[in-house]
Amino acid sequence: MIILSIETSCDETAVAIVKFNKNKVEVLANIVSSQIKMHSKYGGVVPSLASRMHLKNMIPVLKRALKKANINLDQIDSFAVTNGPGLIPALMVGVSCAKSLSYFFNKPLIPVHHIEGHVYANWLKVVDNFKLWKPEFPILCLTVSGGHTQLILMKKDLNYKVIGETVDDAVGEAFDKVAKLLNLGYPGGPLIEKFAKIGDKNRFNFTRPMINSGNFNFSFSGLKTAVLYETQKVQKMDKKYKQDIAASFQQVVIDVLVSKTIKAAQKYKVKNIIIGGGVSANSELKRQINEKVNEELFGVEFHFPSIDLTTDNALMIAVAAYKHIESNKGIGDWKSVKADSNIRLKY
Ligand code: KG4
Ligand code: ZN
Repeated sequence: MIILSIETSCDETAVAIVKFNKNKVEVLANIVSSQIKMHSKYGGVVPSLASRMHLKNMIPVLKRALKKANINLDQIDSFAVTNGPGLIPALMVGVSCAKSLSYFFNKPLIPVHHIEGHVYANWLKVVDNFKLWKPEFPILCLTVSGGHTQLILMKKDLNYKVIGETVDDAVGEAFDKVAKLLNLGYPGGPLIEKFAKIGDKNRFNFTRPMINSGNFNFSFSGLKTAVLYETQKVQKMDKKYKQDIAASFQQVVIDVLVSKTIKAAQKYKVKNIIIGGGVSANSELKRQINEKVNEELFGVEFHFPSIDLTTDNALMIAVAAYKHIESNKGIGDWKSVKADSNIRLKY
C-alpha cells in the first residue's frame, strides 16, 4: 500500500510518499518546503502570500517527492491530504492538488485533520527503517502548535475526545508573540527556547494562568499581556533581560502544560502520554513532562515524535491516512473532500 500525502495548512508545502506493509513503514520520500524565511519579514504568516507560495511550490515539491521515491503517480494506491484546520487559502492549494490526482488516477482520497496528523506522528518508531507503534490505550495527547493547545483522550485508534483546550491564544502563538515583543524574530518558539537556556527563570514571577482552574482548559493571552507590561517598564532590553524574560515565560507555560497533563493522566488512568505539534520541539518541555511522569505516574510512559516530525510535514498525514485505511474509516473520493479552516476532531 503506497500513500502519497499532501500538507499545506500553514506555511509548509509538504509531500510524502510512504509504503505501508502491516506494521512496517518505508518512507520513500518526505519533502518539506518551508516559507518561514519569507513570512519572517512580516513577523508572522501572511495567508495570501502563503497561498501564492503554495501554488508556486506545489508541483515542484510533488515532482521532487516522486523523483526521490523513484516511482510514478500511477503506482500510488491512495492519496491523502490535510483538509483542515488551517488557513483556508493555504489549505485549498493542497486540497485542489489532491482532488485532481484522486480524480485523474481514480484512487481514494483520505482527508486528514491536521491535529490527527500531529497525533499520529507519535506512531512512527525508528527500528531498522520505521515501525508503527502498537500502544496500549487509553492515551492522552497534548497537542501544542501555532493554532492549537488541546488535551485529547484516545480510548482507541482514531477515537478522540477533547477534554481541554485553550480559551484564547494557542501556546505556539504565545511563544511567537512574546518573541516579537523581545524583537527576536519569527517563528518565536525556537528563539525563545534558545534564549531561555541561558536565562534566569525565577527573575520574573508571571502568574501561571488557569493552573488551578479545576478543568483542563488553558489560557495564554493574559500571560502575553503580562510580558508586554513588563517590557514596557524598561528603556532598553539588553540580552540578559531578554534571556530572563524568555526563561521566566517559558517556565510558566511549561508549569501549566505539565500540571494539567499530569492531572488529566491521573483522572483518565491513561497508559501512555504523547505530545504533538510545533511546540513539542521544545526540549525543556519534553524533559519536564518526562521528569514529572517518572515521579508521579507509575506505569505510564511518555512518548514524543522525532524532532523533524514535530513541525508540519506530510509524513504524519500519511500515517494518519493509513490508520483510516486499516480501520476502513473516513475514506473519501475527490468529490467529497473539502477544505475547512475550522474543522473539529471527530470521535
Ligand atoms: O505545528 P506547527 O509547525 O504549525 C501549526 O500547526 O501551527 O507549529 C508551529 C508553532 C509555532 O508557533 C512555533 O513558534 C512553535 O510551533 N515552535 C516552538 C518550537 N519550535 C516551534 N515552540 C516552542 N519551542 C520550540 N522549540
Ligand atoms: Zn501543525
